Amino acid sequence: MNRKEIKIGLFGFGCVGNGLYEVLEKTPGMKAKIKRICIKDKTKLRPISSKHFTFDKNELLYDDDINTIVELIDDADAAYEIVKTALQNGKAVVTANKKMIAEHFEELLQLQKEYNVPLLYEAACCASIPIIRNLEEYYDNDLLESVEGIVNGSTNYILSKTVDENLSYTEALRQAQEKGYAESNPVMDTGGFDAKFKLLILIAHAFGVVVKPEEIFNLGIDKLGDLELGYAKEKGYKIKLIAYAEKTADGKIRSFVLPKFIKNTDKLFYVDDVFNGVKTKSYFSDVQFFSGKGAGAYPTASAVLSDISALCYDYRYEYKKLNSTDILECDSEIYLKIFLRHEIVYTKIFKSYFNEVNESYFNHEIGFLVGTISLSNLKIIAKWSNADSSIILFDLIDQETTHSLIQQEELEFELIA
Ligand code: HSE
Repeated sequence: MNRKEIKIGLFGFGCVGNGLYEVLEKTPGMKAKIKRICIKDKTKLRPISSKHFTFDKNELLYDDDINTIVELIDDADAAYEIVKTALQNGKAVVTANKKMIAEHFEELLQLQKEYNVPLLYEAACCASIPIIRNLEEYYDNDLLESVEGIVNGSTNYILSKTVDENLSYTEALRQAQEKGYAESNPVMDTGGFDAKFKLLILIAHAFGVVVKPEEIFNLGIDKLGDLELGYAKEKGYKIKLIAYAEKTADGKIRSFVLPKFIKNTDKLFYVDDVFNGVKTKSYFSDVQFFSGKGAGAYPTASAVLSDISALCYDYRYEYKKLNSTDILECDSEIYLKIFLRHEIVYTKIFKSYFNEVNESYFNHEIGFLVGTISLSNLKIIAKWSNADSSIILFDLIDQETTHSLIQQEELEFELIA
């Protein structure tokens, strides 16, 4: 097969851009060369000669000799403008910017179609794990039931370090930043937003449904406290930030990002440090498990390199599963078993939002409730930010029990009416 020569215009020379440069240097077999690198910061010292750099994006975007733009900057809005212009100019694009993709998914699909150019973004989800191409190519059927995983390296690193090595949260976050794992605004990681953007991309390739970021509920690890960490330790659980999406038997998608208690019988229990892990469940093959480094220069650059290599063979996502009639399930049809830590002044009111409470504890200040709650009620509690509360998932309630809970609620509503 004839391999196309890839001439790259690279945007960004931070952690991943630099990593890509080095990885390309060490991969002599690749028919790919970086022609020019566009950077923003004029004062920063660079490890390679200044002749490689420009500060003018048009030198890359309008250079006919450059057939591929690799976008590795951390400003999602600027990235969007670069990617859009590149596609409009008929250039293939490789990007790692999950926020940008998640916020403009529909338009990026349209641009690829209109200008007949590929946009690849394997590095945007779980860095070194080739999950997008697997979902896109391997699970090309209706039998994929769910995708669940640890998809953010920084939060997994923080949770591993604070629990296993007793580092403070601030110190663990500082290390994640120093190692180049965290986003420039770390709330994107710790608040579960980065995981949500990745989940949105995974849902599109797994189930052919394009959702908007605001349609997926996310909580992060930033409110976790000693009570729930102690509870997890006592029961032999670990707390991990989990992204979950499931296609129900009637074709709806149930999805969220939440911290979750993980038992030692679950493969995700053993995914620590900066590693990510993704479980797919499908009708015949049952559970399969992918694992690999989820952040950092080389793991991310390796996925970018794989996309560049795929472009040599004219690879593109076909989005074969798109345009199905699936819809997101409304929140009132998702029930969860959760742990809620809260100030005791709120116990009575919070309890009233639960369908069932199985366990509770109080001291003179704080307490927790364990029980079943609908996602719509959980959202109400989560908004009560002055209540100093923290929410951890035990499990999603299965579809059969969910249907009986809905029937029970309808009956109670009729009795009151
Ligand atoms: N901040 C991201 C993470 C980088 O920690 O997973 C990789 O997408």
